[in-house]
Amino acid sequence: MAKVLAPTTLHFFMVLLISILVYSEANCCPSREIKITVFLQQFTGGPNATTAAVAGIPSRPRDTFQFGTIFVADAGITEGININSPQVGRGQGIYATSSLDGLNGHNVFSFVFTNRRYNGSTSEFQGRGYSQGVRVSELSVVEGTGAFRFVEGYATFATVLQRPSINYTVDRVDITLRQY
Ligand SMILES: *[C@@H]1O[C@H](CO)[C@@H](O)[C@H](O)[C@H]1NC(C)=O
Ligand SMILES: *[C@@H]1O[C@H](CO)[C@@H](O)[C@H](O)[C@H]1NC(C)=O
Ligand SMILES: *[C@@H]1O[C@H](CO)[C@@H](O)[C@H](O)[C@H]1NC(C)=O
Repeated sequence: MAKVLAPTTLHFFMVLLISILVYSEANCCPSREIKITVFLQQFTGGPNATTAAVAGIPSRPRDTFQFGTIFVADAGITEGININSPQVGRGQGIYATSSLDGLNGHNVFSFVFTNRRYNGSTSEFQGRGYSQGVRVSELSVVEGTGAFRFVEGYATFATVLQRPSINYTVDRVDITLRQY
């Protein structure tokens, strides 16, 4: 009798265990995709400058193409390409020219949202930023706060408007996030 019961009982528990695993997989933590497109309004110099070089190698120029230059930036983020379109937040953080040949940078910054939907929430960007001659760069989104807790994803930064005479550049930023 025991010989017959044992496998049946074992079988019952295995089915139960598998059901629990399948159930948890289906119900725990579905990921949600979030897509956001915004425009980053940057002035690299002049009275409206949104970027400041704050450190660098002594006696070397503090510019984007010089290894070791560190910038702090605080640029407006708008809904549309026009600088007068509704403001949705600010991009604030640190940029460093991190390759010896001056061709690449490393970025660590936050998008601090102030629009109604994401007010007070942030998304955190990190990775290789500017690459000389590359018009679209891709960065990791490593985390977030508020509405963006437990997100991860990536964002592309494409230069869509440039007015060198006033040091003005607009990047279109397409953000794709998964939230767990
Ligand atoms: C552009 O930036 C340069 C370097 O910071 C500055 O000398 C110049 O006045 C700026 N031009 C305008 C129009 O803001
Ligand atoms: C965002 O939150 C701040 C502080 O809580 C509040 O003053 C502001 O009016 C809010 N903005 C929007 C667009 O809801
Ligand atoms: C500064 O920004 C304002 C818009 O906020 C713009 O009208 C003005 O032309 C800008 N000035 C320069 C020198 O970039």
